[in-house]
Amino acid sequence: MDSMRIVGGKPLVGKIHISGAKNAALPLMTACLLTDEKLTLGNVPHLADIATMANLLGQLGVELGLNGHHANNGHTGRAMDFTAKNLTSVIAPYDLVRKMRASILVLGPLLARAKEAKVSLPGGCAIGTRPVDLHIEALRAMGAEITIENGYINARAPHGLQGAEIVFPTVTVTGTENIMMAAALAKGTTTLVNTAREPEVTDLAHCLQAMGAEIDGIGSDRLRITGKDRLHGASHDVIPDRIETGTFVMAAAITNGDLELIGARMGHLNSVARVLEGAGVALTETERGLRAHRVNGLHGTDVMTEPYPGFPTDLQAQMMALMCVAEGASMITETIFENRFMHVPELRRMGANITVHGSSAMVRGVKKLAGAPVMATDLRASVSLALAGLAAEGETMLNRIYHLDRGYERLEDKLAACGATIERVKQAA
Ligand code: UD1
Repeated sequence: MDSMRIVGGKPLVGKIHISGAKNAALPLMTACLLTDEKLTLGNVPHLADIATMANLLGQLGVELGLNGHHANNGHTGRAMDFTAKNLTSVIAPYDLVRKMRASILVLGPLLARAKEAKVSLPGGCAIGTRPVDLHIEALRAMGAEITIENGYINARAPHGLQGAEIVFPTVTVTGTENIMMAAALAKGTTTLVNTAREPEVTDLAHCLQAMGAEIDGIGSDRLRITGKDRLHGASHDVIPDRIETGTFVMAAAITNGDLELIGARMGHLNSVARVLEGAGVALTETERGLRAHRVNGLHGTDVMTEPYPGFPTDLQAQMMALMCVAEGASMITETIFENRFMHVPELRRMGANITVHGSSAMVRGVKKLAGAPVMATDLRASVSLALAGLAAEGETMLNRIYHLDRGYERLEDKLAACGATIERVKQAA
């Protein structure tokens, strides 16, 4: 297993290209299942999770094509083609779903197009139980017959799905995406209430529109989808990754550096920008993206994770790393996932002063963190330890970095190009 060796203490200065958003690309890829025509996606990031999804789609009979790199609007991602002309399987097997929960996103499109789907239940994961009951209930309300057997969701809709009114009791991102895709091919109109409003959900809605879907209320918490008999092919560019953007903003702040994030969109940061500005980080729009640097010192500030446009849970760990070296105290409250403080004991081993009370963590800033061997059990926790390592005195060895490769494209290259001492240490198998 590879590790990352980081020697901290260097301010990061320079430009970083922001990649396409992982959490937008994954549902967009599954949208190809809704049509027998070609879907072309631009700005697709190079990530392990994208390869896993491509593998899953390939197993379902989707023909994949790589169009090479293209650089428009500062994008450096690949363009990929997906053609689901003949579906040869409707099964998402356990070994793939276990690796990546987002595999559940094939459920809605498969059921709508092929009228059946068999998808492994994702089960527990490092950041909590993360059930998919809301996806299942919504599809049942649309007329699907669903049984759970031997760890698999067996779903059938022999006469097709029917439009319905669905009120989500909890805001769910992939739940909204799954049902929006299913509704695009259902008979009649579907109204979804209390939907997720994340930019990734909006990006999917725009792509579905380009494929011929009729969707009203995009960007709001109420979507009205009028089902169509068929959708057609389209070309669509994946939005820039706001979580990668936020992570690099915090990298600039924690190292007292100055970064320009090319392709980043301020409009997607919302509460992140407000919270960071309150902590003493200046964020300004530039012609090609945005610039991040400290104004004076960093101050502690309180943060609570919430569905968009609130502060994202996917930036909570990175924010905590930053607050570890801010002046004063910060209260960080996680409201989306239980058990999402696994980075706390590791940050403590680097000298951080953090106490957890239920779903809140009290962080008292320290002058300096100290490098240490650390490891993490999820993607965002891993990157928070990399940030801490960049600010710490001495060497940090970050283990289990396959988590980083799931969601950050060439992280070490991007950071090293701005002056960080960071390298991947290959370990003999
Ligand atoms: C997505 C993101 C993930 C992010 C999360 C919250 C992708 C591929 N992943 O995950 O990076 O951390 O949104 O912003 O986009 N819930 C239920 N029942 C359900 C579904 C969800 O109880 O059927 C609960 C979850 O346990 C959680 C909350 O709803 O407490 C939000 O989860 P959800 O938005 O569904 O997360 P994901 O879509 O899995």
